[in-house]
Amino acid sequence: MKKIAILTNGGDAPGLNAVIRAIVKTAEKNNVECYGFIEGYKGLLDNNFVKLDSKGNASGILNRGGTIIGTSNSTNVFNLKVVNEKGEVEYKDLSDVCVQNIKDDGFDCLFTLGGDGTQKSSRDFSLKGIKCIGIPKTIDNDVVATDVTFGYNTAVSVATEALDRLHTTAEAHHRIMVLEVMGRYAGWITLESAIAGGGDVALIPEIPYDINKVVEKIENRKAQGKQFSIVVVSEGARPKDGTITVKRTLNDGQGLDNIRLGGAGEKVALELEELTGLTSRTTVLGYTQRGGTPTSFDRILSTKYGVKAVELALQGIFNVLVTYKNGEMSYATLEEVVGENAKVGAASSNIRTIKMDDPLINVARNIGICLGD
Ligand code: F6P
Repeated sequence: MKKIAILTNGGDAPGLNAVIRAIVKTAEKNNVECYGFIEGYKGLLDNNFVKLDSKGNASGILNRGGTIIGTSNSTNVFNLKVVNEKGEVEYKDLSDVCVQNIKDDGFDCLFTLGGDGTQKSSRDFSLKGIKCIGIPKTIDNDVVATDVTFGYNTAVSVATEALDRLHTTAEAHHRIMVLEVMGRYAGWITLESAIAGGGDVALIPEIPYDINKVVEKIENRKAQGKQFSIVVVSEGARPKDGTITVKRTLNDGQGLDNIRLGGAGEKVALELEELTGLTSRTTVLGYTQRGGTPTSFDRILSTKYGVKAVELALQGIFNVLVTYKNGEMSYATLEEVVGENAKVGAASSNIRTIKMDDPLINVARNIGICLGD
């Protein structure tokens, strides 16, 4: 192996630069040249890449948020939206252009840093003969086969800090404070931040909620003299007899990410205000969860992921996703992770949601967090 390329694709997550740095350093140590495609699969399609150098552009980036090589979350090269000469929208498979680029550039392996959508393309490239190694990035922590994705710990920390801050203002005003957090169709950020931040209620996509159960919890707190409550709501949460709250549906239609979630927190806050008579306020944490500097946990995890990825490539192990399982770095085949038989999750893709026998559910219930059921 002489020459490798990295791309970062999909929504950014804290730790991307730490992974890039670890890959570059480990590659250089083994006399392998490292390059980065600009803006994810878009750069691969346009054959736009830069040389990465641990003493140059890949230096001083360990604690930096974002990604030094950019990302895009709307470029599915296997089904790309293009406008033809007649001005009509068409969807085209341009993956062979990418394959040719990789061959012409002489890259021996492509490292794809991304979530389930990115890894699906990675798997599809591997089926076309490209040697790929995926690294699971997402604040949502919803990638199959790994216990934790990088970026997730930072998102939980940001949400926890927000809950600490909401606590004091909620108490001062005797209010219900609702915090809406990200995570798409998985409730990991909600559940862990509610545990870490002393939330009273955590509404996750995996448990469609009954608003009356939440009201009961708040009334019980009132009866104990607690005039305020903290409610953490997943953006993908839904009532048991209703649907998820969609902010916008994009009419480019065909990608995994054509639904913008948003509004679940406000919906819950309005109902709680009406049903309890307590004033409610909503905070939507949004992109602060994935911007900025990674926690030390994410810097270490990202570094482990990057080192392991290059080690696997040097051992000739390709078409896998690097995983962190039971405290150890390992790997699973891309086929296991996003292939047709990997139906593990919910919604439209193979995502890892919280199972009802997950210890976190038990912990939450035992400390009295209402899960809306
Ligand atoms: O997947 C990461 C994530 O931040 C989700 O938690 C959120 O729903 C989504 O991306 C937002 O995506 P976009 O960057 O397209 O607004």
